[in-house]
Amino acid sequence: MTDKIATLNIPGQDSVELPIYSGTLGPDVIDVGALTKRGMFTYDPGFVSTAACESKITFIDGDKGILLHRGYPIDQLATQAEYLEVCYLLLYGELPTQAQKEEFVETIRYHTMVHDQINNLFKGFRRDAHPMAIMCGVVGALSAFYHDSLDINDEKHREIAAFRLIAKIPTLAAMSYKYSIGQPFMYPDNNLDYAENFLHMMFGNPCEDSNINPVIAKAMDKIFTLHADHEQNASTSTVRLAGSTGANPFACIASGIAALWGPSHGGANEAVLSMLEEIGDVSRIDEFVAKAKDKNDPFRLMGFGHRVYKNFDPRAKVMKETADDVLKELGITDDPLLEIAKRLEEIALEDEYFIEKKLYPNVDFYSGIILKAIGIPTSMFTVIFAVGRTVGWVAHWNEMIGDKSRIGRPRQLYTGEPKRDMPAIDKR
Ligand code: SDX
Repeated sequence: MTDKIATLNIPGQDSVELPIYSGTLGPDVIDVGALTKRGMFTYDPGFVSTAACESKITFIDGDKGILLHRGYPIDQLATQAEYLEVCYLLLYGELPTQAQKEEFVETIRYHTMVHDQINNLFKGFRRDAHPMAIMCGVVGALSAFYHDSLDINDEKHREIAAFRLIAKIPTLAAMSYKYSIGQPFMYPDNNLDYAENFLHMMFGNPCEDSNINPVIAKAMDKIFTLHADHEQNASTSTVRLAGSTGANPFACIASGIAALWGPSHGGANEAVLSMLEEIGDVSRIDEFVAKAKDKNDPFRLMGFGHRVYKNFDPRAKVMKETADDVLKELGITDDPLLEIAKRLEEIALEDEYFIEKKLYPNVDFYSGIILKAIGIPTSMFTVIFAVGRTVGWVAHWNEMIGDKSRIGRPRQLYTGEPKRDMPAIDKR
């Protein structure tokens, strides 16, 4: 409870007292529930100033560029922990001991294969289908295969569904890539770790052993960690809203994948590469920066700006360092797109428009440079984002169900027609 109160004066009514709650970190919140009894709603399109829930998973300070997962800074997790350790942390609230880590890694390994019937689902898609379209379909279809773990009120069912989703999402992602290039699906190799296994299923083939470059595998693991969770972003809020209806976890994660696909959200990494390729040369950067600043031009600098960060996205800093490591490992010394990206960042960060609007590179700005260097096609970039983010979606879904949250049901400001009688068709 709280002893802090906000008093709201409403014309023609007595004032209303609204409780103020404080969290561990971040802004206080005002509980506006009492407004319903006064026949009023709050109004906040885009949820810019709305806390939709209470959560213990991730904290972001947008002004300071801070991102914590269960209290641990993202740069420490990305450089010192493996992705599956971060998955354990997000799910259970603490980093695993060595024994807990080994058991968790083994459990995830045990669930990496998918039911063989799922292979047939891919055959319904055209070979040139966007892999995100395939992922929306096949992840949602998982609920048709796991009837033994769909009771969302059973904590054990929720845990097995979490294991299955974290374990199978890389397998399905690699299958969507293999399907698009007409190569056979690769089974997971449980002698490999999570990121190595993904690269094996993406680039391996049945005719030869996979020789996974450990530097690339480490970079892939780090990319998954940098995408693991991000508070109440659009796709996570979608998963929470879907989950609040009691929908099964596979359907909820499929809804998160669908929301992530948009270019304003997870689809931005694919859009950044297209933008850098369209710019084509550092000499054209000023032209595109001018377009981004032009109110009459819908063009935006993809990979720049963020609803919450009004400072550097801490993930972008780690991603930029990783890009340098990967290109160096691959002997790519003069990647033109990286040169354009770095020059674009320099120019934008010195430009009054970007400074005034506090637009900095976000997580999507550099990730595509790395993924392209690894050999992952642009159309797979958002799929990679979805692979890393699945654990965050699952952790929030599990927290919301565990908190026995009510069904989410926002209201509106209605500005349509007042009540009127329907005219016969010859009177319209
Ligand atoms: C992700 O929420 C999350 O946490 C998301 C994410 C996660 O991990 O889940 O971090 C992942 O989605 C990162 C964002 C990826 N999207 C992009 O890179 C697309 C390009 N960026 C934008 O479209 C935009 O910045 C958003 C969508 C990210 C944020 O939009 P907001 O908060 O609604 O901000 P806005 O659109 O109201 O912009 C504020 C002003 C506007 O100008 P004014 O109307 O005030 O004059 O800044 C301008 C915008 O025109 N602006 C940009 C810009 N982004 C904002 N101008 C040029 N280029 C841009 N990229």
